[in-house]
Amino acid sequence: MDVRQMKIKAAEVALSYVEDGMRLGIGTGSTAEEFVRLLAEKVANGFKVQGVPTSERTARLCVELGVPLKSLDELPELDLTIDGADELDSRLSLIKGGGGALLREKIVAAASSRMIVIADETKVVETLGAFALPIEINPFGAVSTRIAIEKAATRLGLSGELSVRRWGDEIFMTDGGHQILDASFGRIPDAVALSEALFAIPGVVEHGLFIGLASLAVVAGPNGARVME
Ligand code: 5RP
Repeated sequence: MDVRQMKIKAAEVALSYVEDGMRLGIGTGSTAEEFVRLLAEKVANGFKVQGVPTSERTARLCVELGVPLKSLDELPELDLTIDGADELDSRLSLIKGGGGALLREKIVAAASSRMIVIADETKVVETLGAFALPIEINPFGAVSTRIAIEKAATRLGLSGELSVRRWGDEIFMTDGGHQILDASFGRIPDAVALSEALFAIPGVVEHGLFIGLASLAVVAGPNGARVME
């Protein structure tokens, strides 16, 4: 099985948790897109769901494939969210935001009774942090915010590069009109402390540490999928 097949396998298993009539948060990224493709096939066969997309990109794919969508304001409480991750550990703490959709992803996951993560085996780590942590910041005062993040990280014994995410020659802008700093801190031994320190900085809108949100992960490897709870 190559990585794409593993993503499809994880999406396939996750689909078995989706029940007819569910209000469903739909994640962003290549794994979530495999899930959307499989979901669309079921919808075409009469399965009923109402989806709330976590990004404009996911919304476009859902519309193209005929998955019915609502806004989160129309469906403020969801049964289940299915989304990918950039990293996950054994406690199901995650790093997300590689696709830049972390803010909407976290809002949607928090509005859901349950979040299931779908991932290939390469995403499972012992300690979060090999993947650079996306930090979404308001463009106003971006340099001051960046300095404040560096100082907060140093206080926690973390150091590393903070790079402004770019899209070609332009600074990448999220669906919410914010910028992203990708923080290569390396190993993050205390994700809760880092999360609190980042939220204490006014210019930080959101960060990619998802702690206590996922209740189950479907992880696919070359020999099939396993469930982590
Ligand atoms: C987007 C995300 C994605 O879920 C994460 O980047 C994983 O993406 P992929 O499935 O393409 O590896 O957090 O903001």
